[in-house]
Amino acid sequence: MNITIFGTGYVGLVTGTCLAEMGNHVLCVDIDEAKVAGLKSGVIPIYEPGLESMVKSNTAAGRLDFTTDASRAVAFADIQFIAVGTPPDEDGSADLRHVLKVAETIGQHMERTTIVVDKSTVPVGTADRVRLTISEQLTQRGVSLEFDVVSNPEFLKEGDAVKDCMRPDRIIIGSENQRSIERMRTLYAPFNRNHDRLVVMDTRSAELTKYAANAMLATKISFMNEIANIAERVGADIEMVRHGIGSDPRIGYSFIYAGVGYGGSCFPKDVQALERTSRQIGYEAKLLSAVEEVNRAQKQRLFQHISRHYQGRLQGKTFAIWGLAFKPNTDDMREAPSRALLASLWSVGAKVRAFDPEAMDEARQAFGERPDLQLCDSSDEAVLGADALIVITEWKQFRSPDFGRLAAHLSDKVVFDGRNVFEPDVVEEAGLAYYGIGRGRSVKIESAV
Ligand code: UDX
Repeated sequence: MNITIFGTGYVGLVTGTCLAEMGNHVLCVDIDEAKVAGLKSGVIPIYEPGLESMVKSNTAAGRLDFTTDASRAVAFADIQFIAVGTPPDEDGSADLRHVLKVAETIGQHMERTTIVVDKSTVPVGTADRVRLTISEQLTQRGVSLEFDVVSNPEFLKEGDAVKDCMRPDRIIIGSENQRSIERMRTLYAPFNRNHDRLVVMDTRSAELTKYAANAMLATKISFMNEIANIAERVGADIEMVRHGIGSDPRIGYSFIYAGVGYGGSCFPKDVQALERTSRQIGYEAKLLSAVEEVNRAQKQRLFQHISRHYQGRLQGKTFAIWGLAFKPNTDDMREAPSRALLASLWSVGAKVRAFDPEAMDEARQAFGERPDLQLCDSSDEAVLGADALIVITEWKQFRSPDFGRLAAHLSDKVVFDGRNVFEPDVVEEAGLAYYGIGRGRSVKIESAV
């Protein structure tokens, strides 16, 4: 099949590349000329395992191409994916400007029966607005053409996006149109082998499914962070509790890791957007507000431990920071907990020596040159001359450091572990003080019962 994808961001690029990998001819369109020129010559704007080689091989095979020419893109295929960004606007609602602009473009250039697929994460009712926008354009042009708008949300995790796209847990198709459903079934057939992962529903349910999935996962994390805060105060260890509850298959082991809070491009934005949507329709989503509030507070939790350890005297202290990305295997620092922590450290006059395996360029862009930040070439280098170590992102390479070496270098002999990646005993045996998240034994909160 021929497929057009609007938007070569994270979702559009991965989806387009995977569809090309399955033998389709895919044309990705973006308004950013430099990005399109780069992609045509194999320059991938994001770090995502496996993506670069796939883009290059499919481009070389003539199945994947990039353009800024919207009319060529609309003419190319009768299935048009919308995969542009939906950033939060001032009040946290999803900003649909880009999505509706693409709908307008499709309406302006469409010449045949077309299926328009909403891949972007969009509030319930957006498919109707896309439909209306296209209809308006067709009316203005005085043409009458059949088209359908399908909701087909993505569930890609950064760092695993290619795998998630090639081998999805589920493929949600929201449509009331039998012909569109069949076309989508055919398009996704290569991704849907062995057992049927295709779930067909109405468009509104499909739109809500995406938000519900992210809100549920964010809720699990905030719940565990809340229990971690209780654990600290009662002298329990959240890691033990996690093992204890995860073994119940109704709860499960995944997404119950306490830490420095969730970040990234989806959870913070989607939880807020769903809460705003609810408010707009006269429903106060109290749980969602709490999930968001717990997360905001959690991003300060490690700083509170640090501040208490130093009794507030942080001026002039130097902290080695391991990890800046919002999670491992990505260079993405959007809403990363590291940003909140660094801001707090800097606000009290502390200095930072930071290293992340992938996010150094992002960090350079985010923070620029400043006297209280040294970006280092390795985790070892970050520790040189530092008073203490803080782990914010659980990259595998940070998991088993030489604690003896750390103890020799860190002048204040203390480790703050924002992801509970270390065993407190092992750290303490090396002569270092240890603080984790929700680990009552090492945190020694004054209010312990
Ligand atoms: C998420 C969803 O998982 C994905 O399905 C959706 O399409 C987009 O949003 P992503 O943002 O890439 O994906 O990251 P994810 O792996 O879900 O992690 C989100 C955040 O939660 C990270 O900051 C991570 O560190 C944090 N997290 C995750 C925890 O703090 N604890 C956990 O147990 C799991």
